[in-house]
Amino acid sequence: MARFRTLDDIGDVKGKRILVRVDLNVPMEDGKVSDLTRIERVAPTILELSGKEAKVILLAHFGRPKDGPNPALSLEPIARAASDVFGRQVAFVGDCIGEKARGAIFSLNPGDVLLLENTRFYKGEEKNDPEFAKQLAADGDIYVNDAFSAAHRAHASTEGLAHLLPAYAGRTMQAELEALEKGLGNPAKPVVAIVGGAKVSTKIDLLMNLVKKVDALVIGGGMANTFLAARGVDVGKSLCEHDLAATAKQIMIEAAGAGCAIILPSDAVIAREFKAGAANEIVSVDAVPADAMILDVGPNTIGTINGWIDRAETLVWNGPLGAFEIDPFDKATVAAAKHAASRTKAGKLVSVAGGGDTVAALNHAGVADDFTYVSTAGGAFLEWMEGKELPGVEVLKLK
Ligand code: 3PG
Repeated sequence: MARFRTLDDIGDVKGKRILVRVDLNVPMEDGKVSDLTRIERVAPTILELSGKEAKVILLAHFGRPKDGPNPALSLEPIARAASDVFGRQVAFVGDCIGEKARGAIFSLNPGDVLLLENTRFYKGEEKNDPEFAKQLAADGDIYVNDAFSAAHRAHASTEGLAHLLPAYAGRTMQAELEALEKGLGNPAKPVVAIVGGAKVSTKIDLLMNLVKKVDALVIGGGMANTFLAARGVDVGKSLCEHDLAATAKQIMIEAAGAGCAIILPSDAVIAREFKAGAANEIVSVDAVPADAMILDVGPNTIGTINGWIDRAETLVWNGPLGAFEIDPFDKATVAAAKHAASRTKAGKLVSVAGGGDTVAALNHAGVADDFTYVSTAGGAFLEWMEGKELPGVEVLKLK
């Protein structure tokens, strides 16, 4: 694995101004943070630096503001939530550069934590404008990036700054990179990947990359229907991208060439309505009625998947196996998640999962804490699974 400077290398930070890029792009409901996971994940870095009496200055984005400052996308309410999570006050200032920000930073005492306003209120952020990056850098002595989940963006606060100040990976970034290295970088073999979710179209690059790296690829969710249809199976009214039949075939050809087994559902849970509690039955995938849709994989398929999990030393998981958000079509996802969790707890499996729906599915199964690592990253996790370089990570690597 490439070497990174981490907080172990940072030296004496007492009184130093440390610009820490965090990902506070959290879900909100009625003006309050509804899921604190991302805030909790960065707490170790913040508390470590604050404990060493650094002046901790947090840089973050929130949402996708289009035309400058937008009060609805202010980070102010998130500063309050962060204060509760960190158990210490997180001050807030309504700008991230200029006089206002500088004044707030100037009045910090060693150990204080300050959150600056949404970096995306300036166009220079997303353009990675060197002038904007310089303005950010002017208010810090050291840069720490603890936002793996924003590292697929080459923005001023995720990439540009690392060229201007001594740059280090924070504890969460470090944990994420170490876990991903165990997942696909240099994994213990055999490696099994589970990929689910609705559409093949959003995961073509990911599937093409995985078949070259893993020993078996389990395909579930709506995207499995596209593969079944490409093999000539009639999937009735199921979600299916018929126009991607050629792509699905190509992925299966690539897999065969690379010696990667493709595991498709052999049986399915079908229903006529997409709603919780809908009447359902289990059928072989060859016997899906024309007016029914597949909403989950069936018990035989769960057995097959769990068999592959038993053989695996490493499991990488992105996307649910069925419509897990509506009961009872969560069964396969829950069963496989629990099985992977118990193998992990028994020390037999390294399990790495990521992506928005996947985290929700593992939480629903009650096993997110039992996996080796669960990434809160969405786009960044997918790009990593696609084998792409992430600019915010590349720039931290020691040359
Ligand atoms: C995320 O929520 O996945 C990250 O914060 C990145 O956000 P973005 O997709 O708006 O760049």
